[in-house]
Amino acid sequence: MATQDGVRRRDFINIAAVSAAGVGGLATLVPLISQMAPSKDVLAESTTELDISAIEPGQAVKAVFRKQPVFVRNLTPQEIAAADAVPVSSLRDPQSLEERTKEGRSNILVTMGVCTHLGCVPLGAAEGENKGEFGGYFCPCHGSHYDTAGRIRKGPAPTNLLVPEYEFTSDTTILIG
Ligand code: FES
Repeated sequence: MATQDGVRRRDFINIAAVSAAGVGGLATLVPLISQMAPSKDVLAESTTELDISAIEPGQAVKAVFRKQPVFVRNLTPQEIAAADAVPVSSLRDPQSLEERTKEGRSNILVTMGVCTHLGCVPLGAAEGENKGEFGGYFCPCHGSHYDTAGRIRKGPAPTNLLVPEYEFTSDTTILIG
């Protein structure tokens, strides 16, 4: 009898231990899974439409796409010529301006405003503190310099500013995402 009681007690303790482990495991997993799922805000911003008609040549505007800055720049003919004059093979991340823009619209450059080194927001040429040597963007965190085509030219960033997915929905409107 005493042995049967002992077995039942052991069974109960085992079941309780397994249940507690299960609940504990779930309690750990649920926040983990919900962290991995995109929040409603992010889903709501999965595309960004932008009217670019007011961006004068030589100007850039900052938009927001998936909570990250995007630079949309209207290049001047001089800036296009400066970008085209650089031999692509001499670049750390070899890409021509043509490859980074849409056909027939090489004056409109759309890039993420996120430095590819450690993610700071670079300053644009029009910003007073810009100390960039290549007329494009300068990252104040560790001194990466990007040219007018958003290509890395100097400093620790390994690659060019990323070009997000986007399309022209009209002559004056782009849809990012
Ligand atoms: Fe831009 Fe380091 S984050 S240079």
